[in-house]
Parts: sequence; structure tokens; C-alpha cells
Amino acid sequence: MNAKMYINARDIKSRINPEIYGHFSEHLGRCIYNGIYVGEDSTIPNTKGIRNDIVDAFKNIKMPVLRWPGGCFADEYHWKDGIGEKSQRKKMINTHWGGVTEDNSFGTHEFFDLCELIGCEPYLAGNLGSGSVKELSEWIEYITFGGVSPMAELRRKNGREKPWKLKYLGIGNESWGCGGNMTPEFYSELYRQYQTYCRNYDGNQLYKVACGPNADDYNWTKVIMEKIKPWHANAISLHYYTVPSGNWEDKGNATGFTDDEYYKTLEKTRYMDTLIKRHSDIMNVYDPENKIKLIVDEWGTWYNVEEGTNPGFLFQQNTMRDAMVASINLNIFNAHSNRVAMANLAQAVNVLQSLILTEGERMVLTPTYHIFDLYKNHQGAKLCYSSIDDIRQDGYDLPVISQSVSVNDKNEMTLTLSNCSLTESVSVDTDICGFDFSSAKARILTGKADAHNTFDKPDAVKISDFSEVTKTDRGIRFTLPPCSAAEIILS
Ligand code: AHR
Repeated sequence: MNAKMYINARDIKSRINPEIYGHFSEHLGRCIYNGIYVGEDSTIPNTKGIRNDIVDAFKNIKMPVLRWPGGCFADEYHWKDGIGEKSQRKKMINTHWGGVTEDNSFGTHEFFDLCELIGCEPYLAGNLGSGSVKELSEWIEYITFGGVSPMAELRRKNGREKPWKLKYLGIGNESWGCGGNMTPEFYSELYRQYQTYCRNYDGNQLYKVACGPNADDYNWTKVIMEKIKPWHANAISLHYYTVPSGNWEDKGNATGFTDDEYYKTLEKTRYMDTLIKRHSDIMNVYDPENKIKLIVDEWGTWYNVEEGTNPGFLFQQNTMRDAMVASINLNIFNAHSNRVAMANLAQAVNVLQSLILTEGERMVLTPTYHIFDLYKNHQGAKLCYSSIDDIRQDGYDLPVISQSVSVNDKNEMTLTLSNCSLTESVSVDTDICGFDFSSAKARILTGKADAHNTFDKPDAVKISDFSEVTKTDRGIRFTLPPCSAAEIILS
């Protein structure tokens, strides 16, 4: 197949907020415990109980932001249970996720340590479902107030003199579901009350995120936008998971799927584009000045759990199919970066569409991780106009190629493209306007749809150099093999 691609570097659409490449870590299964956090006494190399190899991997993809402590868990989380002497911390039941005992050994201090080690922004999900206005207000005081106050004193007593900086604060998670089964009318009123008492202390400026819709619940967005104004919230969230079968009882398996399941999964993931467009249409009516942003703070694939694992732990393998899902979604988020300010893949380690899987001291980087590596040069860059022939996959409502192009402060042009066909290579010929370059470096991820990394074969799917790029009179030419995603940097 051949495709023509047009790029205009003079036609800048928006800035790609780095946080679009964000992540999510919940007290769920082995994401935090026996995942990111192994405790200081572990034989696995760690810093304050946090695995060093995981921190290094997160740093490599320039993880810009990490959401915590949930998810559904957030609306049952009482932050005061997770501070102070560890042996004295309250133990609770994690009712949402397997009914296991939560010993609260990973709490506020440990989360901020983790973000400091990674060098990323913390994004807290505050408890509106079963907490109180006072509890949330005090959490903000505990974290961000530098003067004399009960919460600042408590923080000092627990070993942290200086306040932390906190920008991103979600108030309620899935308040239409696990976060309280609320109506949008009721939630909006509650949100306005809660957010009033989340203060900006000592120059800290909170960026407040209200709970937005579940997938295509357009009425939720409409009501929220009617009632919540830019002086109440900086953004609303959107959650959408890709479930191959569309049936939550039998979602489909992470590996061993058919070609038809592969294409249907990608078709379903493309729906993200429609969702963002339609929710943005509603937001445009109530907020034409684009002051309230959209944050897709949960997205990714959701399959049946791996056989023999705790059904409440949501552990699944990750294949080249997931890599294609990630690549398509990141290109969609880039395309909508005028309204989409952040996105958080669910979840970082050992849960759903993970970046990393661990087993004891071993860890593997998933194909999805490699996509975040390939796409990292877009962070903070300016999205420029690009278009490509709309070749459709036979029998599916699915464009074969997905693409985005940006130019960053170092005057590098980054192209990311994926070819989701399982059988056809695509030869791409580009016309580039408004950008001079003399060198091209490129990397690629490719493999069979079902290819994945295991603890015995951790490098079955890995990035390799892509030497196919040639310069032409008007731009570049290259051929994308079937089931592949590539990054090309021109400078
Ligand atoms: O990511 C797993 C769960 O999915 C989250 O806890 C919840 O917000 C969503 O339903």
C-alpha cells in the first residue's frame, strides 16, 4: 500500500501538554504493593522501599505525572490512615479490589517520595464519595502549607519540614459509579462545596479536576458544564476503557486472540476520538473560551484477567495489540491537545494495560511501555498540521495509519506513525512544508499482533533502529511494516 502524507510546520495547532503522556497507580492488585513499592527491607534494590528499576524505567519515558491513590480506591481512602509510624497505621479492607488487607504502609509521604524520585507531577484523587469536606481540606493543608497550623505541624512531626508542591487535584472519582452512584446534578453541587475549601497556600496553585463522564454519557458532561464554572474547576475528566468484546462479563483475552478480535479492539479504541470530539462539542457551548480542559485520566485495554490470578487484581498480559492501542490513543490525544490537557494510562504496573510487569525481583517492559518511549519527544512540543491518506482496513471502520507530527524547542520535528494492518506494509511519501532538516533518526516497534514479553523472554518485543528513512526532494519516504509503530526525528 502507498500513502501520501502532508505536513505544514507553519500551521501550529496547539501545544502538546507533557501530561498527555501521564500514568495512573492505584492501590489495586500488585500495582503499588509488590509492584512499585516493596518496602525498605526488601532484597530488591530500592530507595525508601520504592523499586529502583521501576523508577529508572519511568524516568526513561519522562513520566510527567502520576495519578494516585485510585480509581475506586480513592473514594474509600482516608489519608490520615497512611501517615506516621508504619506499625501504628490502620489496616483496612480494600473492598473494591479483592478484599485484601490494606496496611497503609504506602501513604502520602511515600507517594511524594515516588514522584520526587521520578521527577513527575503528583496528581491526587481526593475522596468525595465517603470522605468529608474537612478531610480533603486538611489533606491539602497537610501537603502544601508551610506556616503554623495543625496539619503543617502534623506533617513536621512525621518528618517532613517543608511543604510539597501539589498541582493536580481530582475531587471524586467516577462519582457516577463506584465513587457514590451520584446524579450529575447532585455531584456538581457537592463538587462546588468541596472545591471551595481546597485552598491555595504559600503560592501553591491547585489545578482542580471535577469528575467528568463515563464514556458516552453526554448528559453528564452537559449538566457538569452548566453547573461548574472555570472558577470552580480547571478541568473535567473522561474515562473510557477498550473492551474488545464490548461485554464486561467476558471481555476477551489479552493473548491468543484472533485477527478479527485484534481489529475489533482497535476499532473500539478509535472510539476515543469520537468521544473527545463530542464531549468537546458540548464543552465548547458552555466554555467557548476553552478554559476548562478535558483530562482522560483513565484509558487503556481491559481484558479477562490471566488464568490463575486473583480476579480482583486485574492482571493482564500486554502484546503488540496493546502497543497499537497506545499508539492510536496517543496520536488522538495529540490531535486534540487544544482541549485535552492530560491523559493517564490505566495502570502503571501489573494492572490492566501496564507499562511494566513484575514477578518477584524480575520485571519486564511491555510493548505499551515502548510506545511511550517512542512518543516521548512530543512532550511539550507544538503540534503541527499533518494529514495522511485515509486507507481503511477491509471490513472494519478503522484507518490503517494513525499519525501525529510536532516540532519542539530544539527545532526537532517528530513524526509518530502506526500501521495497524496485520498483512500489508505501507510506503509513506511525505511532503513537508516550512521545515528544513539535514538529518533523520528513527526507531521502530514491530512484531506479530500477539507478540509479548515474558520474564523468560523480556526482549521478545523491543525497539530497534529504523534505517528505512530516505530524504526526497519534498520530504522523506519510508515503509512501515505490518503491525508497527515508528518515531522519526528530523533536525
Ligand atoms: O482502573 C481500574 C478501575 O477502573 C478504577 O479504579 C476505576 O476508576 C475504573 O472503573
